[in-house]
Amino acid sequence: MADIESLLKETRTFKPDPQFSRSANWNKKTVAAYRKEGEKNPERFWARMAKENVSWFSPWKKVLDWKPPYAKWFVGAKTNVSYNCLDRHLEGENAWRRNKAAIIWEGEPGDSRVITYAELHREVCRFANVLKSKGVTRKDRVILYMPMIPEAAIAMLACTRIGAAHSIVFGGFSAEALRDRIVDADAKLVVTADGGYRKGEPFGLKAQVDAAVRRAPSVESVVVVQRTGQKVTMKRGRDCWYHEEMAAASPVCPPAKLDAEHPLFILYTSGTTGKPKGILHTTGGYLTHVATTTRAIFDLKETDVYWCTADVGWITGHSYVVYGPLACGATTLMYEGVPTHPGPDRWWSLIAKWGVTILYTAPTAIRTFIRLGDDLPKAHDLSSLRLLGSVGEPINPEAWIWYHEVIGGKRCPIVDTWWQTETGGIMISSLPGSVATKPGSATFPLPGIDAAILDEEGNEVKPSSGGLLALRKPWPGMLRGIWGDKARFKEVYWSKWKNTYFPGDGAQRDRQGYFWIMGRIDDVMNISGHRIGTMEVESALVSHRDVAEAAVVGRPDEITGTAVVAFVTPRGGVKPGAPFIKTLKGHVTKEIGAIARPADIRFTNALPKTRSGKIMRRLLRDIASGREVAGDTSTLEDFSVLASLKESDEN
Ligand code: WT7
Repeated sequence: MADIESLLKETRTFKPDPQFSRSANWNKKTVAAYRKEGEKNPERFWARMAKENVSWFSPWKKVLDWKPPYAKWFVGAKTNVSYNCLDRHLEGENAWRRNKAAIIWEGEPGDSRVITYAELHREVCRFANVLKSKGVTRKDRVILYMPMIPEAAIAMLACTRIGAAHSIVFGGFSAEALRDRIVDADAKLVVTADGGYRKGEPFGLKAQVDAAVRRAPSVESVVVVQRTGQKVTMKRGRDCWYHEEMAAASPVCPPAKLDAEHPLFILYTSGTTGKPKGILHTTGGYLTHVATTTRAIFDLKETDVYWCTADVGWITGHSYVVYGPLACGATTLMYEGVPTHPGPDRWWSLIAKWGVTILYTAPTAIRTFIRLGDDLPKAHDLSSLRLLGSVGEPINPEAWIWYHEVIGGKRCPIVDTWWQTETGGIMISSLPGSVATKPGSATFPLPGIDAAILDEEGNEVKPSSGGLLALRKPWPGMLRGIWGDKARFKEVYWSKWKNTYFPGDGAQRDRQGYFWIMGRIDDVMNISGHRIGTMEVESALVSHRDVAEAAVVGRPDEITGTAVVAFVTPRGGVKPGAPFIKTLKGHVTKEIGAIARPADIRFTNALPKTRSGKIMRRLLRDIASGREVAGDTSTLEDFSVLASLKESDEN
């Protein structure tokens, strides 16, 4: 609550620039009309967007079939995502886009490729034929475990072309995490690379796939892109090289005419248990949502060079690196590596080099750059920029103002976009040209989105008092379920109130109706804009033979937003200390990946529990962040635990 208190003291307002407003894709009048229609008749509004922004092979019979919590959008309609992202830009009045850059890609070592729409279309058709030759059909799942290279986008689009659902696993996840996801999705094929580049060094991916697939019997084939040239082992009959298959494949592959509700992808995200949830998205509604929001919020014009810095392994990479911008016929920039290689100004030199006009990134990155100093961005020509976006966590006003002044040169509107893996696309955001912004506020729900702030009983709270963010009406990009787990889908998202979706965030509105998102209220941490469940890290820790018990909480961190703190009770006879800390940090990295690696590990003889055995995380959070333990401790079973916990420290 302290964070939101300080956010709410923010009174600065930034009005849209009249010139920007005049040329915006959605001007003030349009936005007003859309808001009205979205409120009165959201189905009519979304049907309008579906017609305007998506091409359909055959029309729908019904816009929405809503049997809570299950929604079907554009019932009976047929379309194809790769057709919308590629073919339609090569035909008729859009045919001039054939030679427009679809993807500008830059590798970390400095190599680059510019891929036109016509070229991307050919590559995608070829790879779709490769998938088909491996027996992949519209009934299958394909895992992508790849670096940020164009082949990742090609593989995604090829899956959509034939109707196979992809499930991308972020390249930073461990072999163990990869295996869990392959098994859960029951995937037939894995697309990977020998490796990728990170911080100036090649890292391996194929070796992780080998380890994962050893215990994932559903996988019949592995296709390997050669990126780094590092040595890998290829298993005969199972593994093949991407470049060899592509050379032999035909560049002709008609897009499958898929039902609007055909599965598009599964993306795993953390929840409050140790097992990640496979969030399922489908075709027509998702595409409508991402195409509409990309066009409206980023105000994409034909001449823009748009850069969303997310990795394709996260939802932002799906919706706003690949599908949204390509559906709009835009030029999307993909960068392979870290922001700090070969120097800490890599991003700014990329912007100057390619003339980036729109930059969409996360507060954690902005805070990192603030710390590195203004000289780095100031040494580069950033005058091409005309719009900035933020996503992943609440942006603190200090970072907002720095972003506005130092990166945006005070001329670029900032869109702070709230959404999540489950929503598929942006839900709450400013619209440039029509909404006055306040640093730290995502402003208002988009037209057609019914967001509110409710109390536990489902009543709307008064202005300026805290509550729970809620979505009261279905929207086209919404998740259609958790893969293979109906009960969990209902329980996690739909059990708090009747027919209303609960995203898991706390929020409040100010007197002018602006939304201020506070962040997760459940046992999910937001590390650098990525979701990690406390339970996931706990299960990783207790899987180590020398750990008796573990509890994990987040503490505030200046750069990453939240840092992972683990309280660990070692098994009898095990010596706590620096070597054991190192072992445990390495163990979590191996089990999940480096993003989940605890910043602090504190050893303790006992954890604070209630009489019924529930760990009192609230107390641990206070201790982890060095605060006085506040609030009720009367349910604590053993008070002496508190004192000893406070003394626990690294070592
Ligand atoms: C959670 C979703 C959506 C893409 C990246 C993360 C937090 C996201 C904002 C924002 C405040 C935000 C929420 C949300 N979040 N954007 N603009 N302001 N909080 O996707 O991993 O599914 O995480 O990120 O807590 O629930 P994700």
